[in-house]
Amino acid sequence: MLQSLWLESLPKLPPDPSNAVADNPAAAEFGRQLFFDARLSANGDVSCATCHQQELRFTDGLQKAQATGTTARHTPSIVGTAYSPWQFWDGRRDSQWSQALGPLEDTNEHATSRAQVVNLITDDPEYRATYESLFGALPDWSDSDSVMLNTAFANIGKSIAAFERTVLPTKSRFDEYVQAIVDHDADRQRQLFSDDEVRGLRLFIGKANCMQCHNGPLFTNHEFHNTGVISFPGDVPDTARVAGVREVMANEFNCRGLYSDDVELRCAELDFARTGVELIGAFKTPSLRNLENTEPFMHKGQIGTIADVLNHYNEAPDAMIGHNEAKPLGLDKRELGQIEAFLKTLAAPVFVETS
Ligand code: HEC
Ligand code: HEC
Repeated sequence: MLQSLWLESLPKLPPDPSNAVADNPAAAEFGRQLFFDARLSANGDVSCATCHQQELRFTDGLQKAQATGTTARHTPSIVGTAYSPWQFWDGRRDSQWSQALGPLEDTNEHATSRAQVVNLITDDPEYRATYESLFGALPDWSDSDSVMLNTAFANIGKSIAAFERTVLPTKSRFDEYVQAIVDHDADRQRQLFSDDEVRGLRLFIGKANCMQCHNGPLFTNHEFHNTGVISFPGDVPDTARVAGVREVMANEFNCRGLYSDDVELRCAELDFARTGVELIGAFKTPSLRNLENTEPFMHKGQIGTIADVLNHYNEAPDAMIGHNEAKPLGLDKRELGQIEAFLKTLAAPVFVETS
């Protein structure tokens, strides 16, 4: 069971046939530059990294994100999210390249437009050269050919996605501990994990039932669940996945769309996406690797500390909308502290070049 959570068990990233440059290093480098470039915004101040700050493990420390406006939800980390078949808390996109196009045109985020973004690439000699070496000549879409414009816009998303595929979790103390178990090295195990951390791990995989949803080497099943997280006063409860699944089916940049590079349109995710009332109020299970410096937690940053997240699971309140799938745990304070101690062993910073 421990090996199933081990980073060593993480398979290589599955290919993304919808993105021809997904594993092209030159595209990843281009995407990295775009990720940190604030010129990709209406006011010249907002880049992806405004909200996904690497010193905060690619989050922003806020409840709801802030740029040209305030977003509806909380900023999740991007580390390892290339493994996720669905993007956003409600999974309203089915690839990282289509995800990346969303914030660019969102009036609360970059507030720019596909035309402005493509113009920026066209007008910057270096960007233009890089783009054209990857994708061929930039289109002259001034005759308002929206397919040409959208193709160029999608290629920008595909480059950013290629970069994000390189932002992967690194080995934590927990992973070294599992290594010590595999090696039957009892001394090393004792050096690496305190008694409380061992007990917290036992509770996590046992009585506390966290692995029902937080499983695999990324500590997520990539699925959608209602865990009864309460909305802020004044916020309408979020229907979440119910709306997200409708949106991804209709999205012009989805796997079945004109801008996918997969000519065979192998879109199993869309074909087999679950729908139904159990998805009311259901959000994507986040990874638990690297919670350090990512507070507040949950889809709207409703919960400020890990201790309070654990209190929430211990009580398992009725959901405001839909049905809370998690059951009350009846753990005492000491046990909750032990789970918290264990969760902290998953911390491992991830750094990328910013300039
Ligand atoms: C204003 C802050 C802000 C900016 C700017 C921003 N994001 Fe985000 N990002 C968010 C928020 C908030 C969410 C969650 C929104 C939701 O789920 O409804 C998110 C979600 C994501 C996700 C989904 C992660 C997951 O686990 O589902 C990825 C990937 C991502 N952003 C990448 C990017 C990229 C790439 C850019 C730049 C093109 C960008 N973001 C710009 C705030 C921001
Ligand atoms: C039924 C599935 C399920 C179970 C069981 C479950 N979780 Fe979660 N967990 C989720 C989902 C879904 C979210 C996001 C919920 C939201 O934002 O509304 C989440 C969020 C979290 C977060 C916040 C992470 C972040 O980045 O915001 C932590 C920490 C967490 N869970 C830890 C645990 C622990 C520890 C347990 C066991 C006591 C547990 N979870 C049990 C599904 C589950």
